[in-house]
Amino acid sequence: MKAVFYAPNGIGGELNPPPDKSLTHRALMLGAVSDGACLVRNSLNTGDCLVTRRCLSSLGVSISETGERKNRNLRIEGLGLTGFREPEAPLDAGNSGTTLRLLAGLLAGLPIYTVMVGDRSLMSRPMLRVVEPLRRMGAAIAGRASGEYAPLSFLPGDGSLSPIDYELTIPSAQVKSAILFAALRSTGKTVLRGCLNSRDHTEKLFNYLQLPISTEEDCLILEPVSRIPAFDVKIPGDPSSAAFFITAALISGREITVYNCGINPTRMGFYEVLRRMGARIEIVEESSSGNEPIGSIHIKPDTLHGVSIKGSEVPFLIDEIPLIAVLAAFAQGCTEVRGAKELRHKESDRIEAVSRFISALGGSVTVHNDGFSLEGPQLLSGGVINSEGDHRIAMAAAVLSAGVRDKVEVHGFEAASVSFPNFLDYFRNLGGKVE
Ligand code: S3P
Repeated sequence: MKAVFYAPNGIGGELNPPPDKSLTHRALMLGAVSDGACLVRNSLNTGDCLVTRRCLSSLGVSISETGERKNRNLRIEGLGLTGFREPEAPLDAGNSGTTLRLLAGLLAGLPIYTVMVGDRSLMSRPMLRVVEPLRRMGAAIAGRASGEYAPLSFLPGDGSLSPIDYELTIPSAQVKSAILFAALRSTGKTVLRGCLNSRDHTEKLFNYLQLPISTEEDCLILEPVSRIPAFDVKIPGDPSSAAFFITAALISGREITVYNCGINPTRMGFYEVLRRMGARIEIVEESSSGNEPIGSIHIKPDTLHGVSIKGSEVPFLIDEIPLIAVLAAFAQGCTEVRGAKELRHKESDRIEAVSRFISALGGSVTVHNDGFSLEGPQLLSGGVINSEGDHRIAMAAAVLSAGVRDKVEVHGFEAASVSFPNFLDYFRNLGGKVE
C-alpha cells in the first residue's frame, strides 16, 4: 500500500497514543500461564499483539473481548504454568520478535511439541540469543543453523527447567524476559547478570504479581513459583508510538501534548535525547497501573542541536533511533549514534534503512558498522521512501513530511499496522494530509 503524506501547516496538538506493545505482549503471555481469569484493559489490538493472541489461542488459551471498548479489553483464562495444549500446526509469530522470543521462554521444556515460525524478516533475525540460555536450562530446542534462525522446534520435556547463573552479553529485554519466563518453572534460583540495562517491564509486572524477583547489584534473582495469580491490569499508551508525532511536531515547529502515556524510565531515553537537543519537555506522572508509571508529556519546539549518543544509552531508545535520524536532519551540527549494532537485527537493518530514507529525500548519512552520523541541517525535499516492510521505518518516513515542503510518498506503508493502528487517522487529526 502506498500513502502520500504532507503537512503544510505542520503537525501538533493533543494525542492519546495507542496502547503499549511491549506491555500488551507481556500481559497476554503472563495471563495465559496464570491460574485464573485475567483482565487486560486497553490492550494493543493490532499486528504484533494479535499474532501473540493467535499463538496463545492455538495453545488452548481462551481469550475473549469484554466490556465497552470490546476489542481492547481482553479476558484471558490462564491455563497455569504447564497447561498449554499441544498445537496442531506451527505457531506463526508473523513479524513479531517479541512474540517469538518471549513465547520461547514459556514453551521451553513443556511436555508438548511446538514449532514457531515467522515471516521472512523474522526468520532471518537471530534467535540463538534466547535458544542458547534456554538450552542451558535443559530445554531441547532445534532450529535452522543450529538454532540461530526459526523455525524453532521445542521438544517435549517434563515441564520443569534447571536454574542458571547467566550473564547477558546483549542488552536485550526480549532475551532477559524469555529467560525470566522460563525461570518461573525452574527447580531453583536463577541469577541473571548484566541485565539491568534494558526496558524492565517484565520485572515490574513480576513485582506487581508479587513473584519472588529481586535485584542485587547488576543482577536479577528469581526464585521459581508454583503458580501465577490472576490479575487485572491496564496498559498505558506507548511512548515509542507517541515519539513519531513528537518528532513531527518538533521538525514542524509546533507544540504537542501526549496523554495517558507510559513513562517508565527505561523507555525514556528518546525524551532525554530530545532535551539534550534543545526541545523543552515537561513530563508529569499522573497515575500508575501494574507498577508502570503513566503520565502526560508536553513538548515545545526550540532550535535543535546535534547530539552524540553512545552505546550505554541505546537500549533505552532502541526503537526511536530512526526518529533521532529524522530530528538530526533538522538540527544544527553533527549527530552521531554509536554502539547501536543491534539496529542491524531489527525488522529491517535500520542503520541502512535510515541512510536510505534520508538519501531518498536528498540528504546524506554516514553509515558506521554500529551506527551512523549525520550533519544538519540538511536540505531535504519530498520524495519516495520504501518502508522495507519495517513498521518503524514506514512511520519515520511519514513524519519526515512534516519538515519538508513537498509530499513524501511511502511505499509499503501497511507495515505500520504491526504496532500503530489507525496511524493515518492520527496523522490527519494532528493537522497533516494523507492521500
Ligand atoms: C522489546 C525489546 C526491544 C525492542 C522491541 C520490543 C520488548 O528489543 O526493540 O521493539 O518488548 O522487550 P530487544 O530487547 O531485542 O532490543
